[in-house]
Amino acid sequence: MKAIIPAAGLGTRFLPATKEQPKEMLPVLSKPVIQYVVEEAVSAGVDDVLVITGRGKRAIQYHFDRSLELEDLLERSSNTDKLRQIRAIPDLANVFYVRQGRPRGLGHAVMCGAPHTGGESFYVMLGDVLVPHNDCLPRLQAVHERFGGSVLAVQPVERQYVSRYGIIGGHEIEPGVWKVTDLVEKPPINESPSNLSIFGRYLLTPEIMRILPRVEAGRGGEIQLTDALKQLLRTEDIYAVVMDCVGYDTGNVLSWLEANISLALDTEELGHQLRESITRLLK
Ligand code: UTP
Repeated sequence: MKAIIPAAGLGTRFLPATKEQPKEMLPVLSKPVIQYVVEEAVSAGVDDVLVITGRGKRAIQYHFDRSLELEDLLERSSNTDKLRQIRAIPDLANVFYVRQGRPRGLGHAVMCGAPHTGGESFYVMLGDVLVPHNDCLPRLQAVHERFGGSVLAVQPVERQYVSRYGIIGGHEIEPGVWKVTDLVEKPPINESPSNLSIFGRYLLTPEIMRILPRVEAGRGGEIQLTDALKQLLRTEDIYAVVMDCVGYDTGNVLSWLEANISLALDTEELGHQLRESITRLLK
């Protein structure tokens, strides 16, 4: 299966850091977010990744390419660990690129990948969303194989914050799996059909590529993927899988900080020291 990674957005929530650098290249610990995303795809058996890029996103292509001068330097200084890490990056997967001329919304970004997906189902993985565990895509795939249709990853959010997210409505057909009957973008709290927010990982059937060109610009003048999914609901089933791990929208400064702290606490080198630092800072 192929994966599309939209990474052409402007990242206005993270300005000024994202003025001239892609938000997908922001590091979580010492690795750019988009490398976590590609590694997650590879671990789910994806070997063909299409990154949707745009203006100011060149660093992404350089990151997944060889860096011969750096390799020479690391070789000469016998830094074998780092050399191995750097050499592994371009070998991760076949990474292809398509440019989205203007950031016209997530739906439009996905549509830019249509010629690449060849009429097959495919994953969409948001390039700024970090999912620390690798079982999300396999769970989407398992539900797709059993029930057919498109499958969305969703994450519970606190009721008071539903108006910040795209929310699904529907009913649970087995623990952690929902049949979707409605999709609402940023609903008011008292009108929200659930507290399950769409969260950055999708398995989509090819029908979405036929719908997207007909979707009119919606919120913010952008072509929204959620609007296309709503239309898809009229003709095909959509399911949702509740993720059992926390994912991070690293395009949001607070969530990016949480990702750094959470991943650092899990490492041997930093975990202990960071706990001590946090205790000191909280005094
Ligand atoms: P976001 O909505 O988080 O991206 O899109 P954004 O528009 O850059 O965010 P802010 O609000 O200005 O901070 C989620 C993913 O979809 C990509 C983004 O790069 C991000 O990885 N995207 C978004 C595109 O590729 N093209 C678009 O037109 C919009």
